[in-house]
Amino acid sequence: MSENKKNSSPVINRRDFLKTSTGLALAGVGGVMFSGAVQAQDSDPGWHDFYSKSPNRKFWKKVRKEFILDKRNVYMNIGTTGSMPKDVLYEYNRNNKIIASNPWDMQEKFGHWPYVAEMIDAVAPGFGADSHEIILSRNTTDGMCSIINGLHFQEGDVILTTHHEHVAANSPLNVVTKRYGVEVIYLEIPVYTGSELISEQDFVDVFADAVEEYGDRVRLITFSHITYKTGTTLPAKRICHEVAIPNQIPTLIDGAHTIGMFDLDFHDIDCDFYAGSGHKWQCGAGATGILYVRDNAKRLDEYWPDRENPLWYINSSLSHAAYLGTQLQLQYIGNDNYPAKQALTDACLMWDMLGRDLIEKRVLELSRLCKERLLDTFPSASFYSPNTPELSSGLTTFNPLFDQQDIEQLTIFRDRLREEYGYIIRTTDFKVKVTDQSDSHALRISTHLFHNEQDVIGLVEAMQELYLDMI
Ligand SMILES: Cc1ncc(COP(=O)(O)O)c(C=O)c1O
Repeated sequence: MSENKKNSSPVINRRDFLKTSTGLALAGVGGVMFSGAVQAQDSDPGWHDFYSKSPNRKFWKKVRKEFILDKRNVYMNIGTTGSMPKDVLYEYNRNNKIIASNPWDMQEKFGHWPYVAEMIDAVAPGFGADSHEIILSRNTTDGMCSIINGLHFQEGDVILTTHHEHVAANSPLNVVTKRYGVEVIYLEIPVYTGSELISEQDFVDVFADAVEEYGDRVRLITFSHITYKTGTTLPAKRICHEVAIPNQIPTLIDGAHTIGMFDLDFHDIDCDFYAGSGHKWQCGAGATGILYVRDNAKRLDEYWPDRENPLWYINSSLSHAAYLGTQLQLQYIGNDNYPAKQALTDACLMWDMLGRDLIEKRVLELSRLCKERLLDTFPSASFYSPNTPELSSGLTTFNPLFDQQDIEQLTIFRDRLREEYGYIIRTTDFKVKVTDQSDSHALRISTHLFHNEQDVIGLVEAMQELYLDMI
């Protein structure tokens, strides 16, 4: 853990959270930053141990009450988008009202231009970053596009990525391919299929072998920290430390699913860029994200000495705004949605207060329960999300049907699960091998901090009943 992480300052401490009976508003999460009332860190390690070791039912029950999700359903598609905690939502609504009534000075609610500086100061420590390295973006797609479209590529450059990336990466990669003649190599990464064991080393080897093959032409390595297709966690830190850094190749990580799920430390991962969502696992407002740019992207000058101006700030070109510096030039997008960014900040502060390490542990605990129950119930199903601690995530993917290509039946299964049993999940599609002629399909389940064991057990029971009805 970096110094930054140790110095993080949640707004209220966990002890207060458990004591209050009326939620976080009383304790002051929402909008408190601008009154300068950020409180001291909870430094009581005994308290941390209390609920990380004991059956912490009471704690998570209270966390669950902070969400207003429709109780007629069990929402398990956080991988698409999350849900704002009620006090974050309350402040968001209040801030929107302030803007509607005072669009010009916004009652000075967000400080001085660029209005997000204090939000960034509050958010950065929770991710092991310095303030000048964090940009409050619009979402993962925005972060990925800002970097890929901003990098100074030339014809013949090679970008290494994987065959399981999201359109957030594939779309700007397509642009630089067409525009500059960059060659994008979609490396086949190992896909767990329930039988073969895969390890972190397998992923490191895929990138290492490709760097050896393409040599100096490799100008960027970009990959998802957790793939949205199967929910597999890639060894991001190892890929950076063992492959990219020794070969002076910049890294851009798609962290759509890790922000708010994992206890991240960007300095420790040591990537150059990290783009994630604020609205998914972090449960901030819609259209919010976090973009990390390591040390003003200075390493690029070292890695790319042959390129003048290696990174263009696509919304704020150097010619007229150099005085702003890297962070502000990337932050600048014209007029912004400050209540949404404040809501993301408030959600981040809530996560810091609850403990990002505990949230990660809880998410993985529920995910493991889900994977184990499904395996017991559907022993002959295909499982695509590994259940080993280092490769697991809060996403579980599997397909109980015999024909993995039968998207029609799987869609019916997903829709009936929602309509008849109230469990909301989604489907994904992917190629197991790059050379596969057709896509395989899977159900994707998200387990998060507002779920409990009963939600998971209920889901698996509902799936079993539905499956028996459908075959
Ligand atoms: C891996 C991955 N990257 C990017 C995105 C896009 O995220 P956003 O909506 O925050 O742009 C998603 C999900 O929708 C995703 O799963």
